[in-house]
Amino acid sequence: MSIEYYPFQINEHGHLAIGGVDTVELAETYGTPLNVYDVDLIRKRCRTFVNTFKQLGVNANVSYASKAFSSIAILQIIKEEGLGLDVVSDGELFTALQADFPAENIQFHGNNKSIDELTMALDYGVGTIVVDNFYEITLLEKLAREKNKQVNVFIRLTPGIESETHRYILTGNEDSKFGFNLQNGQADKALKRLHNHPYLHLRGLHSHIGSQIFSADSYRLAVKLLFEFIQKWHNINGFTPAVLNVGGGFGIRYTETDQPLAYEKHVKAIVEQVKLESEKVKIPLPDIWIEPGRAIVGEAGITLYRVGSMKHIEGVRHYVSVDGGMADNIRPALYDAKYDAIIANKASERKTETISIAGKACESGDMLVWDVRVPKIEHDDIVALFATGAYGYAMASNYNKLRRPAVVFVEKGKAQLVVKRETFEDLVKNDLPYKI
Ligand code: LLP
Repeated sequence: MSIEYYPFQINEHGHLAIGGVDTVELAETYGTPLNVYDVDLIRKRCRTFVNTFKQLGVNANVSYASKAFSSIAILQIIKEEGLGLDVVSDGELFTALQADFPAENIQFHGNNKSIDELTMALDYGVGTIVVDNFYEITLLEKLAREKNKQVNVFIRLTPGIESETHRYILTGNEDSKFGFNLQNGQADKALKRLHNHPYLHLRGLHSHIGSQIFSADSYRLAVKLLFEFIQKWHNINGFTPAVLNVGGGFGIRYTETDQPLAYEKHVKAIVEQVKLESEKVKIPLPDIWIEPGRAIVGEAGITLYRVGSMKHIEGVRHYVSVDGGMADNIRPALYDAKYDAIIANKASERKTETISIAGKACESGDMLVWDVRVPKIEHDDIVALFATGAYGYAMASNYNKLRRPAVVFVEKGKAQLVVKRETFEDLVKNDLPYKI
């Protein structure tokens, strides 16, 4: 693994630096495990998506899928960059409101929104609710009528595409818990129910075909299938979507072998296909919305760990344990996800050993990286894992009563704590003694 694949630097001390800040100093100051984000890179990613649409001269909206990493600070940045926001729960909505994120720029997703969540969305004036199923339509209808409120909705469609991703993160295939199937008539029924509805204003269609997608063809195909549906309903009742939301899922580089497509190319392919299909169906070009999560924050985040114990099994493996693991990053254990790692305090030293990096949880499956080349490894070295910014902290747990790490943002050579490390008190703050 070589550093030039990643947007980070090696400084004059031979240490890994991120956003101009020495990672070894960060580890000293804030402790480990530590999530560090390069804010400049997050901003660049936002701008790449937004500017590509602008250059192509189409009306578009880029929303950040906050499930990838949600905290007040990140949402402040997202707001500042002028993006919209995708939330999937009352908790994500609450966090967005705490960050003063404008409710009208929020889309509410989810396959099982509760009455409380829908009520909250209506009360705060969430911009769009992406309706996922018939039960939700019934609930939303009732609530909107009671409150005498109009709300914009998109229909979430399941286009039935298999994309080349890990099966646990595939959401666009026909056998999916999400959305209305295009093939079996569910989508038609949903459209009939929502067309010209007095309270639910059907503004557009939505599909999300999966995650960590490298090929633009998957998006082109999704657009084609969505337009088959549009054509049909345009002919039947003149349905014309104001918005087509093609979801997120744009792939990132986790390891040297990943070759993600440039985001500009994804956007160009989507725009091209939507233009082509709109012309065929002879409808005005809809606004094009996307909602990347991983592509915005994934590569911008790294995790720093400190090396503790080691176990050498001659001729078999050299296990190096760090002070975090599956509690702060479940992805290797859950998806067999691969990461690259370097020794942050020896970033320019020659690699002489092969090690496997183990987490500290009481599970054999808590392995962060298998067989990575590093310089001579010693206790107290700082390990940096790359591209942990999406679905790392977001999926962290207190398994083994480990405290969730702190999160630090770095920008222009300065670091700032944006999420505090959990305390022991945090671990028991909701516990109540049992009165015997
Ligand atoms: N829009 C919708 C409707 C989604 O379901 C998702 C992700 C996104 C956008 C954002 O996808 P992204 O651009 O971040 O790939 N925990 C898994 C990922 C689950 C993704 C679920 N939906 C992981 O760690 O890989």
